[in-house]
Amino acid sequence: MSASEQILIVGGGQGIGAALAAAHEGRATVWTRSTGVDATDPASLQAAFATYQAEHGAPYALLHCVGDFAEQPLLSTDAATWRHLLASNLDSAFHVIQAVVPAMVAAGRPGRVVLFAAAGVDKDKGMLRAPAYFAAKAAVVQLARSLALETAAAGVTVNVVAPGLIDHPHSHRDSQRRMLPRVPAGRLGSTGDIVAAVGYLLSPAAAYVTGQVLTVDGGLQA
Ligand SMILES: NC(=O)c1ccc[n+]([C@@H]2O[C@H](COP(=O)([O-])OP(=O)(O)OC[C@H]3O[C@@H](n4cnc5c(N)ncnc54)[C@H](OP(=O)(O)O)[C@@H]3O)[C@@H](O)[C@H]2O)c1
Repeated sequence: MSASEQILIVGGGQGIGAALAAAHEGRATVWTRSTGVDATDPASLQAAFATYQAEHGAPYALLHCVGDFAEQPLLSTDAATWRHLLASNLDSAFHVIQAVVPAMVAAGRPGRVVLFAAAGVDKDKGMLRAPAYFAAKAAVVQLARSLALETAAAGVTVNVVAPGLIDHPHSHRDSQRRMLPRVPAGRLGSTGDIVAAVGYLLSPAAAYVTGQVLTVDGGLQA
């Protein structure tokens, strides 16, 4: 990845996405609702990408960092909460992919797509803590695995970063405090831990890595 290669970060206004934007300052463009882009709305994304493409062409990398979280047992999750979590985590990934990735493939040069899941969702087990959220994230993994197959021949890799408990000012701190004893590494993760993992996936060294889940969780036993 050269310094001039562009990175489009969807959901980069705070937390992990903001740390990624800071790490790639000068070549990162951030889309959030605060910048006028709603990742759950295909029309909003298509309009934003038309403007982006006129200025930059297709990005080298697309990072999708949107994904609201809620802890609630499945049997007491109401339909509105379910729909919101699916829209925020899964629908938005689908719509962002459809708005941006065709241009990356058509560009005919190497590219990177990184989606965000959550530690443990690619394992063969249930998740008690936030089942609707984890169901959406498991679907994100499957979306990425399939997209990876569709874009491999074009040189566009698609991978998933699965964070554990990542500390930043907008983190869900009560939940993280409760879960911390289950982290063998003995600490919360930092946004720097995620920036480093994404940096590897964006690097030329990862050109042959696609359809994978890179878990960054200090060994979390969720
Ligand atoms: N933090 C953790 O410990 C942790 C753990 C596991 C997985 N993850 C996953 O990692 C990713 C990043 O997490 P995070 O903690 O940095 O998230 P975050 O603090 O909630 O930040 C999400 C960002 O996405 C934007 N956003 C939300 N809805 C949007 C929409 N509809 N359209 C456009 N932008 C939208 C928000 O800005 P606006 O409000 O301005 O739109 C914000 O900039 C998420 O997918 C999350 O589920 C995080």
